[in-house]
Amino acid sequence: MSERKLLVSKIENGIVIDHIPAGKAFLVLKLLKLDPAARTLIAQNVDSRSMGRKDLIKVEGSFLTSREIDIIGFVAPSSTLNVVQGWEVKEKRRIDLPKRVEGVFRCPNPLCPTNSRYAPPRTKFDVEAGGKLEETRLHCSYCGSVTYYGTILDYISGDEFTLEGGGLVSQEKIEEVFLDVLIEKGALRLPPSPGEAFVLKSGRPSPYFINLGALTDGESLAKLKWAFASYIALLMERGEIGDFDYVFGPSYKGISLAALTCEGLNELYGMEKRYMYDRKEAKEYGDLSADQVIVGAGYFKPGQRLLVVDDTITTGITKVETIKKLQMLGDHEVVGVVIAVDRQERMGDRDHVEEEGAVEYLMEELGLRVFSIQNIKTIYGLIKDNLDEETRRLWVDYYERYGTVRLE
Ligand code: CTP
Ligand code: ZN
Repeated sequence: MSERKLLVSKIENGIVIDHIPAGKAFLVLKLLKLDPAARTLIAQNVDSRSMGRKDLIKVEGSFLTSREIDIIGFVAPSSTLNVVQGWEVKEKRRIDLPKRVEGVFRCPNPLCPTNSRYAPPRTKFDVEAGGKLEETRLHCSYCGSVTYYGTILDYISGDEFTLEGGGLVSQEKIEEVFLDVLIEKGALRLPPSPGEAFVLKSGRPSPYFINLGALTDGESLAKLKWAFASYIALLMERGEIGDFDYVFGPSYKGISLAALTCEGLNELYGMEKRYMYDRKEAKEYGDLSADQVIVGAGYFKPGQRLLVVDDTITTGITKVETIKKLQMLGDHEVVGVVIAVDRQERMGDRDHVEEEGAVEYLMEELGLRVFSIQNIKTIYGLIKDNLDEETRRLWVDYYERYGTVRLE
C-alpha cells in the first residue's frame, strides 16, 4: 500500500458513497437531489486497493431514501454507502441492483395500462440482473414488455430525468421550516394581553395556543405537506416507524393534515397510501358500520396498518379517544403518531397534574410511538427574547406546574 493518503477531509454527518466505478461519480451525483448549498466533495479516479481506480462522493448533512439508493444501483452497483454520524461510520451497506422498481421508468409499450391517458397506474418493473451490468433488463409487471440496460441508462443520463420526489431532508431543516410557518403565519398565538390566557380542552389556562387551523393559505399548506411528508419519510428510513397503509387524521384539524400528508408522501416519495378520518357527529351511533363513522374505512382490510397525524398533543386524552375509535376497524395496527407540536405537558387537567407526561403515557399505556416535528421548549427558546417579562413568567410558571420540561 502506498503512503499516499486521500486528501479529502472527513465529514461530521452525512453520507459517503465509496467504491463508485471510476468515471461514474457525476452520474451518481445527478441522481441525488442535493441541496445546492450542501457541502459536497467529489473525488474521481483515486487509487483503490480493490478496484484499481474508483470515484467517491461525500455529502455533508444529507441522507438518502431507499428509492435513491435503488436508482444508484442501476448506475453504480457494488458501491458502498457509508452513513456518517458524529464523525463515525454508523452504517455501511452495499448498493445493489434493486429487485423491483416502481414509478421511476416508463414502459416502452404504448398500449400498456401504465401509458393510458386517464389515471394510469404507477409503473412497476421486475429487475432481471444479468451476468454483466449491461445485461440488466426490466420486465413490466403489467404487460411484460422488456426494457434493456442501454435504454435505462440513456433515460437516467438524460436531461429530463428527475427522480420523482426529493431526497431525505435533515430533521433540523424540517424543524426550521416548520417553525417559520408557525410563527410567520400566525399558528402560534399569544393572548392580546398577558392576563388573558387561552383555556384549553383540559381546562388549563395556557399562555399560548397552537392552532394549525390558522394555516389556510396555499403557501402554508404546501409547507405543512412538505414538513409532514419529509418527517415521516425520515422516520421510516431510520426504522423508527414501520410501513403503513393509511394516514389517519382525527377530525377536524387532522383531516386536512392526513390528506396533505398522503398527497405529500406520494408527490415527494412516490408512496401510495390512503387517508381516513372520523366523523365527529356520528359518534353516538356506535353500532353502524365502521365506514359511517370512519370515512375511508371501506377500503380497510383486517390487519392493515395506520399512521395517525395530528396538530398538537396536550394531555393525550384526545389521542386515547382516537385510538378507541379505531377499534371499530377491527384488527389493525397503529405504527405511530406524528404530531406537529408537542406541548410537553403532564397528564391530568386544570387541577390535577400527574407525574407522567402525555407522550410517555401514550407510549407506556398504549404502546404508541409518538413523534413531534416541533416541541414547545425549542419554540420558547427561539421566541423568548421577544416576549416581555410578564409573559415570560407566565410561560415559565405554566411549565413549572404542568410541563414535562422546564423553561427559563
Ligand atoms: N469517512 C468520512 N468521514 C468520516 C468517516 C469516514 O468521510 N467521519 C469516509 C472515509 O474517508 C471513507 C468512507 O467514509 O472513504 C468509509 O470509511 P471507513 O469505513 O472508515 O473506511 P474504509 O475502512 O476504507 O471503508 P471500506 O472498508 O468500505 O473500504
Ligand atoms: Zn407495460
